[in-house]
Amino acid sequence: MSQRYGRFITVEGGEGAGKSINLDYIRSLIEAAGHPVLFTREPGGTPLGEEVRELLLGHRHTGMADDAELLLMFAARAEHIARCIRPALERGQWVLCDRFTDATYAYQGGGRGLSEARIATLEQWVQGGLRPDLTLLLDLPVEIGLSRAGVRSEPDRFEREQAAFFQRVREAYLRIAEAHPARVTVIDAAPGLERVQAQIDRAMHGFLSG
Ligand code: TMP
Repeated sequence: MSQRYGRFITVEGGEGAGKSINLDYIRSLIEAAGHPVLFTREPGGTPLGEEVRELLLGHRHTGMADDAELLLMFAARAEHIARCIRPALERGQWVLCDRFTDATYAYQGGGRGLSEARIATLEQWVQGGLRPDLTLLLDLPVEIGLSRAGVRSEPDRFEREQAAFFQRVREAYLRIAEAHPARVTVIDAAPGLERVQAQIDRAMHGFLSG
């Protein structure tokens, strides 16, 4: 990798974990450290990806086959990497992404029960060696997350799932964190914002000064 290569940071979490507000905060920390940052999301981040997002999250295809869902996630990701993530990193920009492939292991793997090996095959195909440099996992008990998320409007196709699905998602995320301790930092997202952001400060300080 050349000296100019940017860093790739992803943020993950279950429903109601406070991803949006904390993403804004993380972005401000990266910018304050003087790094140009591209802020993007999955599924989405490109015109094609955003259309695929509508197919995945909308209600026009509620009975979508699990494999179709998995492949659409990776189709959007392939476009996102080719058009957006890789070029930005190669320009020396940092990339801050709202969800990435850990979400596929958690939602399609843990939630839907698709095989990890199958996801790993697609990951290798679509990403080659590209992996995030740092992942912040906003973790909190499912009941708390669902009650926080419940106050929002119209649920999307995933938000309509039952608590047992989100429990499997959470467990899959925590297994990923255990398997990749150098990359994934678990942030306890249950307490108030100040305490959550203090944990983010610590994780980002270590990373920004590393
Ligand atoms: P959100 O980013 O606004 O939370 O919505 C994206 C939804 O898509 C969320 O419910 C998680 C889901 N998702 C997957 O199921 N697999 C994936 O690979 C990604 C990136 C997201």
